[in-house]
Amino acid sequence: MNFNEIAKHRQSCRNYAEKVAVEDEKIEKILESAILSPSACNSQPYHITVCKGECAKKVAKAVQGMGFNKFASAAPVMIVLSEMPYNKSAATGAALKKNDYRSIDIGIVCAYITAEAEAQGLSTCILGWLNDKEIRDICGLEGAVRLVISVGYAAEDDKLRPKVRKDRNEIVTVLE
Ligand SMILES: Cc1cc2nc3c(=O)[nH]c(=O)nc-3n(C[C@H](O)[C@H](O)[C@H](O)COP(=O)(O)O)c2cc1C
Repeated sequence: MNFNEIAKHRQSCRNYAEKVAVEDEKIEKILESAILSPSACNSQPYHITVCKGECAKKVAKAVQGMGFNKFASAAPVMIVLSEMPYNKSAATGAALKKNDYRSIDIGIVCAYITAEAEAQGLSTCILGWLNDKEIRDICGLEGAVRLVISVGYAAEDDKLRPKVRKDRNEIVTVLE
């Protein structure tokens, strides 16, 4: 798949084939791509925690507050993205330019993870509805948890949905 095909096929998966395990080699490919993602001043101010087995189940519970994200319990792998400190130049740049580069960097690494997962035939859902404290306790993390990504194989009846997006003219301007 080229990138355009990946973009067209990736969709949030909320219907996993619970009993189908995710191969370790595929997780390794995802991590290889994730580590190559760009960040402000090459700071990579995040930590990636891959949760499998019982740990994945515990993290799945921690994204289900108020009854949301129930589907996550069926995902065999949960990837947690948490904050780490900036390097000096990124910290200086963020302060001077009043720009939250760390959140941007985490968004980019998340995009790399979900795109590589798609390339590997896996399905993902980015989860921002999460219990930061619970997940930090489960994973032994100090930095704030910003995103969790559920990873697994989509159930057979989980079909590709039509994309719902804003009209191109609403979000794109080309100036010369
Ligand atoms: C930062 C972020 C947080 C999200 N949080 C959740 C979530 O907690 N639960 C969920 O089901 N989907 C969540 N999503 C998925 C979005 O709802 C989804 O990407 C969007 O509706 C577009 O649909 P698609 O991914 O199928 O193309 C999140 C996506 C992003 C980027």
